[in-house]
Amino acid sequence: MPRTQHIRSFRQYAESLENLLSSLGTTRTGGPARILPALDGEPSEKAKRFLSTETLKKRGAFFTGRTLARRAVRALLKDENRCTQVIDPACGLGDLLLQYARTMPVYPDLRRTLQLWGNRLLGCDMQADFVRVTKARLALLAMQRGAHPATVAREDLDSLLPGVSVSNGLDCPSPSQPLVVIMNPPYTLTTAPDNCSWAAGRVSSAAIFLDKWLTGSPEGSRIVAILPDVLRTGTRYSRWREYVAKHAAINSIRIVGRFDGGADVDVFILDLSVTSPEKPPK
Ligand SMILES: C[S@@+](CC[C@H](N)C(=O)[O-])C[C@H]1O[C@@H](n2cnc3c(N)ncnc32)[C@H](O)[C@@H]1O
Repeated sequence: MPRTQHIRSFRQYAESLENLLSSLGTTRTGGPARILPALDGEPSEKAKRFLSTETLKKRGAFFTGRTLARRAVRALLKDENRCTQVIDPACGLGDLLLQYARTMPVYPDLRRTLQLWGNRLLGCDMQADFVRVTKARLALLAMQRGAHPATVAREDLDSLLPGVSVSNGLDCPSPSQPLVVIMNPPYTLTTAPDNCSWAAGRVSSAAIFLDKWLTGSPEGSRIVAILPDVLRTGTRYSRWREYVAKHAAINSIRIVGRFDGGADVDVFILDLSVTSPEKPPK
């Protein structure tokens, strides 16, 4: 019976991916045909189908399509230290983490592959079902890339991928080692915190996310962020731009145009390396 027949909510979709994962460990038939949609646009289609547009808008939940994810990750592959950890602090359904994982080594042993990936890949999202989908998709990707199917239950995923968790990407403790941050944060409006030095009142959450990871990450960290164009061009964000330039070396700014994940917004990709802030003149 097709597994989609009984799916009536996004939670059930998340469960269906976990069931697919455990079933592939025992019945090895039809694997690729069932895995491939889950690795591509199916999860975001299901989110649009089962969660209302209003809910998705409120959560700032628009998911990066494959082409844009590829563009964002490509920048990292040239000179990144391949041992550093990679975090998406607002990981959604995992599209950016998956794109990065497509470049990581795979062992024939699924658990060994996930252990390796789990040591390096970190992700946060406030929505538990999104995090479940991210973890299941990472395991399905490992199989699709050559790891032998093995029975992996939901609890196994939690221990193999401990860094992908239901958490607030603005509250994560600051890392001690330089890392790679890849993000497409929510673009919803929020109130700037009292200690915000570049704005007061309502601002884009994306600007706040960038600020948090810029100032919270050690020098030498790399950040690649898909951001709404208003941060690049809006007069309201000129002080944010100055702030960013003070804390980072800008590697590149790539103008993308319309976001490919269904949101009616133009975006750009900002690629920067964290530096220590300029010392004030004596
Ligand atoms: C624009 S979507 C992008 C998701 C994913 N990074 C991608 O590129 O497809 C932003 C995600 O941020 C999540 N989110 C919103 N506020 C958050 C917060 N404070 N901490 C962590 N995630 C958050 C939403 O649930 C949503 O999944």
